[in-house]
Amino acid sequence: MSFAKKIIEWYHDHQRDLPWRNTRDAYKIWLSEIILQQTRVEQGMPYYLRFVDRYADVLAFANASEDDILHLWQGLGYYSRGRNMHKAAGIVRDMYQGEFPKSYVELIKLPGVGEYTAAAISSFSNDEPQAVLDGNVFRVLSRYFGVETAINTPAGKKIFMQLAKDNLDRDYPALYNQAIMDFGALHCKPKSPLCGECELQLDCFAYTHGMVADLPVKIKAKKSRNRYFHYFIIQKDDEILMSKRGASDVWENLYEFPMIETSEALEGLEITAHPEFLALFGTEVTISLLQRNKKHVLSHQNIYATFYSVLSSRDLEKKKVNWNYVLLKDLDKLAKHKLIFSFLETAKL
Ligand code: ADE
Ligand code: SF4
Repeated sequence: MSFAKKIIEWYHDHQRDLPWRNTRDAYKIWLSEIILQQTRVEQGMPYYLRFVDRYADVLAFANASEDDILHLWQGLGYYSRGRNMHKAAGIVRDMYQGEFPKSYVELIKLPGVGEYTAAAISSFSNDEPQAVLDGNVFRVLSRYFGVETAINTPAGKKIFMQLAKDNLDRDYPALYNQAIMDFGALHCKPKSPLCGECELQLDCFAYTHGMVADLPVKIKAKKSRNRYFHYFIIQKDDEILMSKRGASDVWENLYEFPMIETSEALEGLEITAHPEFLALFGTEVTISLLQRNKKHVLSHQNIYATFYSVLSSRDLEKKKVNWNYVLLKDLDKLAKHKLIFSFLETAKL
């Protein structure tokens, strides 16, 4: 039996019933695939359901404001996904008369849609014979076929893409793609794969060579950079000073408290001697520490956030163009990043 048939056979007995699998609607499949790009199924599911409920089709999605999309996205992380989706939806509205494209060559042109996503949408929505290659597929292929080339190198990508294409079930691309991803997610897992009860065992290179724990090979990423964010909670009556992040850094366009970034950790209230602090607040200011070094891990960077409350009578709103007082009761409506809404959940403002 071919590799593909064995994978599909496994899938018949073990598949998960997921809402985006019961549709051929390319818009809904696109939503699910973008959400699931860096997010686990259990975490992404409620977001998927909320998005299809709020925006029933791509026109509704395109006609929403970016702020609304980001607000619904809040908590999922990697917000560029939400922004790219909004751009892509606009393109589908304006260039495709609101009809979501289903072919790989059209999909790959949309912002936020890479090779994996284009292959997933075109196969799931239209059974176009495109092989998906995600982390699950890399792992299954490298173990089963015994490929030791690192998956995160150009050479590795090329070899695995070819292998993925060669093994695609061209008669049932949607079924096969779902099957191999579920096989990787549920059975041939990163840690403790279920080799003992695996129907593919005898033909599996890694299993027969005692190499399951060694595959796939991945080259270690370079060390993460540490960043220290100092956030200032500044309230005036029933308002709080908020700042909208600019472009070209993390959390583009999301709201947070006014802040200063340092490249080194600071002790106690050392921040009050920082030139930027002095320029903003002067010396006649009272601050107190609310929460220290809350860690937030992103790809290639660790962010340590410290929160201070600031008592100041000076007119701070004019200090920066992106600073504005917001009514505390309206804070809910702003799209904030995780550090901020987690802080707000625990803080009593
Ligand atoms: N992860 C990414 N795409 C998925 C899908 N279609 N089903 C389950 N998990 C996924
Ligand atoms: Fe994966 Fe183990 Fe099955 Fe090989 S035998 S395909 S490593 S679960």
